[in-house]
Amino acid sequence: MKYLIGFDIGTSGTKTLLMTVDGAVAASATFEYPLYQEKNGWAEQDPMDWWKAVCRGVKSVLSSSGASAGDICGIGLSGQMHGLVMLDKDGHPLRRSIIWCDQRTGEQAEWMENHIGRDKIIQITANPPMTSFTAAKILWVKQNEPDIYGRCAHILLPKDYIRYKLTGEYATEVSDASGMQLMDIAGRCWSDEILELLGIDRALLGDMYESQDVTGTVSSIAAEESGLNPGTPVVGGAGDNPASAVGTGIVSQGSAFTTLGTSGVVYAVSDSVHIDMRGRVHTLCASVPGKWTVMSCTQAAGLSLQWFRNQFCMNETLEAEKANKDPYTIMDDEASTIPIGCDKLIYLPYLMGERSPHPDPDCRGVFFGLSAIHTRAHLIRAVMEGVAYSQGECVDVFKEMGIMPKRMAVCGGGARSPMWRQMLADIYGCDVYTLQSEQGGALGGAILAGVGVGLYGSLQEACGAMIKEGTVCSPDSGSGALYRQYMKLYSSLYGKLYESWKALASIGGQ
Ligand code: XUL
Repeated sequence: MKYLIGFDIGTSGTKTLLMTVDGAVAASATFEYPLYQEKNGWAEQDPMDWWKAVCRGVKSVLSSSGASAGDICGIGLSGQMHGLVMLDKDGHPLRRSIIWCDQRTGEQAEWMENHIGRDKIIQITANPPMTSFTAAKILWVKQNEPDIYGRCAHILLPKDYIRYKLTGEYATEVSDASGMQLMDIAGRCWSDEILELLGIDRALLGDMYESQDVTGTVSSIAAEESGLNPGTPVVGGAGDNPASAVGTGIVSQGSAFTTLGTSGVVYAVSDSVHIDMRGRVHTLCASVPGKWTVMSCTQAAGLSLQWFRNQFCMNETLEAEKANKDPYTIMDDEASTIPIGCDKLIYLPYLMGERSPHPDPDCRGVFFGLSAIHTRAHLIRAVMEGVAYSQGECVDVFKEMGIMPKRMAVCGGGARSPMWRQMLADIYGCDVYTLQSEQGGALGGAILAGVGVGLYGSLQEACGAMIKEGTVCSPDSGSGALYRQYMKLYSSLYGKLYESWKALASIGGQ
């Protein structure tokens, strides 16, 4: 039997997926690690934690499946996007990674806007200056930690650090690198012009590949540490969302998917570059050669529900442990007893600032309309509805841009909730369908590896053979109208609170 491996270097943990070459899951293992939040709006992770999780993952899937490392024909990487990994000349991390949801870079994004100009940046990178994208993080280190910047010899994204550990190659690929704000998006290459304007040396960046290209092979040191076979090919892979696109079969124009993961994403594929000049959604190279994508990002989607679970759902967590259930299933059951609109309670999911459709590092979460009649179940449902309204606002931008497809795939941990899926269908006003396999980004990585090593002729062919649709939720127009009434009020709150968030951010301390 021959196998492929997909790694997904996520925010809460790394998933290792071992698949047979015809698409069956042979084994999967996830190992978690911490997120460091030293200050309000900051978020960092230790790159070594990712590598340890990869090594443990390989050992676990090989031992649970009985497969031998020599039977693995290819490896594909998927990972959280935008994170900054800085290495010294010997390839050692110089500091923790400043990851995607970190929002310390307001000043740097403003500097880019004022000194380079919004239009120039959009014209080349297809996006206005973004606090979450890697360029602003690089500028932050340059300004605030000049000693570290001075010693930096290599800049990589999270999954590309794992590629370096596996193969010794400093490389990246177009889909993830698009989120660095250093690329010419239409030309699918680094932009010398932007690099010069930002004062970033091209030599710090890795070689650029398409997602399905082979970028190197497993080195003997990596083989010793991980249990993989030396010489196993590693393909470019993709950022977690472009990889999930492959893992959900979203590889052709006119198809789209939503993720309910730590972040929430809506992602549509197109044959040409579409840009929202207001920067409400991002434009990136897709993980499919010759295709691009428009993508939104709600910073705290699953993260909001996870935060609520950790802080307020001890009973549900204990009950879940006793019954050997997932606490989210119990929270879901509680929320389903509450009517649409949560008896007039609205949640704004801005725990980590926001990106789509309101790029703003300073806004913060809100429960609006709290009353003494509200119970924990109301708050759980309000969190889910708030996230769905945010996704609905992004879908409205896609509709305005003329790239909204007729149906939507859904993946990520939140997609396991039938209630959350139905909410999305009602709010989007279209069918929302799951996939039979829930492996998302890791599956996308493995499929990219399958194409890269020549098992399949194209991504379209591989997805056609390996991806099967699951259940469909059709929209209910009555519920949709009710949700839309609340969503209108939800949407008005951002503008009404804008000045108050700026005032909150200007108060000293955390
Ligand atoms: C996308 C984004 C997140 C991360 C984390 O722009 O920042 O979805 O990739 O998963």
